[in-house]
Amino acid sequence: MSIDKVISDIRICRSLWENMGRSSKDKRDIYYRLAKEEGWRARSAFKLLQLDEEFNLFKGVRRAVDLCAAPGSWSQVLSRKLRGTEENSEDVKIVAVDLQAMAPLPGVTQIQGDITKITTAQEIIKHFEGQPADLVVCDGAPDVTGLHDVDEYIQAQLLLAALNITTHVLKPGGTFVAKIFRGKDVTLLYSQLKVFFSGVTCAKPRSSRNSSIEAFVVCENYSPPEGYIPNMSNPLLDHSYDVDFNQLEGPNRIIVPFLACGDLSAFDSDRTYPLQLDPSKEYRYTPPIQPPIRPPYQQACHLRKNNLLSKEDSPTVSFGGAFSALHLSANQESDTAAAAAAAAPQLDSCEMNEEEAAEQEVQ
Ligand SMILES: C[S@@+](CC[C@H](N)C(=O)[O-])C[C@H]1O[C@@H](n2cnc3c(N)ncnc32)[C@H](O)[C@@H]1O
Repeated sequence: MSIDKVISDIRICRSLWENMGRSSKDKRDIYYRLAKEEGWRARSAFKLLQLDEEFNLFKGVRRAVDLCAAPGSWSQVLSRKLRGTEENSEDVKIVAVDLQAMAPLPGVTQIQGDITKITTAQEIIKHFEGQPADLVVCDGAPDVTGLHDVDEYIQAQLLLAALNITTHVLKPGGTFVAKIFRGKDVTLLYSQLKVFFSGVTCAKPRSSRNSSIEAFVVCENYSPPEGYIPNMSNPLLDHSYDVDFNQLEGPNRIIVPFLACGDLSAFDSDRTYPLQLDPSKEYRYTPPIQPPIRPPYQQACHLRKNNLLSKEDSPTVSFGGAFSALHLSANQESDTAAAAAAAAPQLDSCEMNEEEAAEQEVQ
């Protein structure tokens, strides 16, 4: 066997070995793979795009707010859709808010802040020079705990915080889109949204897995009750949960329409597709486009690298400790079970380089 043949075989083996883990994830999740190929920072971009296909969300929008925006795929969608190649793209103002730092995007002003704070609302209004927003979107998700009831409750609180800040910044007639978990108290949430919007629809894009309780509320025509004064210090978050809102009947029970959206020809996020969608093209692995800035699992990686995670039989730090240190990122699919399952391999990938870390982030 010639030396050239040996070298060529080694190269092939190496390339196969290098792509093995990566391509299996690409194969598992079609939207994850497409996000990288089309230059989106996260697969969530497709959720907003598919919502727009159904609701025409961006028509006439010049000022938009992206709440809970990091790593920024929804802001990318807003930037591409609203600014496009139009000459007057300078008139378009987009403000993105998140607790976490986010890499810059063209035409997007970033605020690193908390959406539950009045100061954040004031900062948004300042960027719009006193003008209200046409559209507010929120894909917010807290760090999941894996305890379904707790996760649903916290998600509901975050949605209400988003609604609260929206009442400060949205113009009458404007649109609000937000992630919602279709859990036990979802009817209560619909009732509250109906107080402020004449049209409320629960929509499930094709790119949001059926196995996840995640959906999105599309709230149209902002029309607050007469005399309503937005007030962050008297938020909507104080409720008595004694009433089972799902048991209410007649006009007391709010039921909103449910819409499965996204073109029916769109990929099904629960299916596995072959890597070579186009048989005439060879599959090439595409790395994620945006490495995460200080990812929430960094601490777990640090503990693992320094051998600070105990074994199961050690009395000091339990595996549960490792999990809490991990701070499961809600950038992962919002199904808490899926997120918990997805987190486990992260403990095994603590030798990650930047590119691999970004893999974890593009969910
Ligand atoms: C699923 S990610 C958003 C993904 C984003 N839409 C995208 O397409 O890239 C959820 C985000 O909510 C943010 N978040 C959670 N609670 C927040 C709060 N109180 N204020 C601001 N951001 C918050 C998290 O930091 C996280 O980045």
